[in-house]
Amino acid sequence: MKLEIDGRVVEIEAGNTLLDAAKSIGIDIPTLCYHPALEPFGACRLCSVEIAKRGRTKVVTACNYPVEDGLVVRTKTPNIIEIRKMLLELLLARCPEEGRIQSLASEYGVTKPRFQIEDEHCILCGLCTRVCEELVGVSAINVISRGVEREVGAPYKELSDDCIGCGSCALVCPTDAIRLEKNIYPTTAEDIQEIEDKFLEGDRDEDLGVYSDLIAGKTSTGGQDGGMVTALLISGMKSNLFDAALVVRRVDGYNAESVVVEDEQGILSARGTKYLRVPMMSKLEAALKAGKRRIAVVGTPCEVRAVRKLQQQWELEREYPGVELTVLGLFCLESFDYEGLKADTTSRFGVDLDKADKTQISRGKYIVTADGKDHSCDVRDMEAIVREGCPYCDDFVSRLADISIGSVGSPDECSTVIVRSKVGKKLLDAAEFVSAEVDKKQIVKLAKLKKRNADRKLATIFEGVQ
Ligand code: SF4
Ligand code: SF4
Ligand code: FES
Repeated sequence: MKLEIDGRVVEIEAGNTLLDAAKSIGIDIPTLCYHPALEPFGACRLCSVEIAKRGRTKVVTACNYPVEDGLVVRTKTPNIIEIRKMLLELLLARCPEEGRIQSLASEYGVTKPRFQIEDEHCILCGLCTRVCEELVGVSAINVISRGVEREVGAPYKELSDDCIGCGSCALVCPTDAIRLEKNIYPTTAEDIQEIEDKFLEGDRDEDLGVYSDLIAGKTSTGGQDGGMVTALLISGMKSNLFDAALVVRRVDGYNAESVVVEDEQGILSARGTKYLRVPMMSKLEAALKAGKRRIAVVGTPCEVRAVRKLQQQWELEREYPGVELTVLGLFCLESFDYEGLKADTTSRFGVDLDKADKTQISRGKYIVTADGKDHSCDVRDMEAIVREGCPYCDDFVSRLADISIGSVGSPDECSTVIVRSKVGKKLLDAAEFVSAEVDKKQIVKLAKLKKRNADRKLATIFEGVQ
């Protein structure tokens, strides 16, 4: 396609937009709701330009208008400047404290809006909701309500059980709005640093995070991979470190749910490894609302991130005074949803997952034991059923937990334990176990692998951030 932009001729492949064409010859058009890795949305209209076609002129948005042969485009006519000024004046009135809006507005000579000033941060560009849905695949947030009430948030304005805290929405948000949203947990590098400084204690290791102790252990409780999680919970409760625990237990065969338990029997009912991600945050909030304050939480790295973000917020706002959380994080490369894993196990091995004796992910293999026989496949072959969002998670070892537990790095029937805080140390000291040798290299290898894969995914988002 051959067209003219601001008097300069540009040639570009069909299918590109006017914004692409302008960029290709170094012409700058301001944008707010545009991101190259996302479907164009046309929400902010800041990229408005004037086009002349068959003797008629009209205003279009450059980010989603396709290039055409012979088109004459003008990006800085007095009319276009006026449109952008008006839009920025409205945005400045809505979000007077937002740096990006302030700087764009001042570029166009707008310093003081004539309209009623509000105290919003979100400009409703939809970048966060689109990145969460189109790239991360989680759809934890949406634009909710209507008219002037429109805002971005988790469904029903309740704590999200879907958000994995990947922080992608915070990366693309042109303002600070999404970080202020209370029902999701976008965790940025800055947040991670803050959480580590506030809750953790020990030396910083590039791959394993902050930690003070790394051991392998086996307990008399029994259970998969040494039963260390169960033993830590039981001894922690007996030693009065907490009086309730949020754990995941089986219901209906292999399917699982999170539940708050208050005694040893309850903890034992949650024994065994599950490779499912189950809704958790709403259960934690319900326990707090019911008056529980000293709670142990067992979760995967994304759940640990969410819990820490909430813990920070609750402390800041004194929402649940006296809350004391003990966070036990699990090693996790990816998780599955029940229906997907069940269907896959049936079609792959002819085994009903609900009736399996045991499932295990070990050394890159998914192993299902049923009727005394092991069936296995490479976990990489199960990519299609991995839960949405997992490829965007870069944490294998639950870096923000008080204590992390997993099977990688320790001999069979033992668990690896990483102590990361005073709380974690107290918990380990209260437990009885037999020590074994740890192979740190194995843990580092998987931690690096997970981070490398997530970094590759996140690069697409970074590249589009202005
Ligand atoms: S929260 Fe941020 S990214 Fe989402 S719509 Fe609002 S301004 Fe845009
Ligand atoms: S942190 Fe990730 S999963 Fe959560 S809302 Fe943002 S993009 Fe979606
Ligand atoms: S950047 Fe084009 S409409 Fe927002």
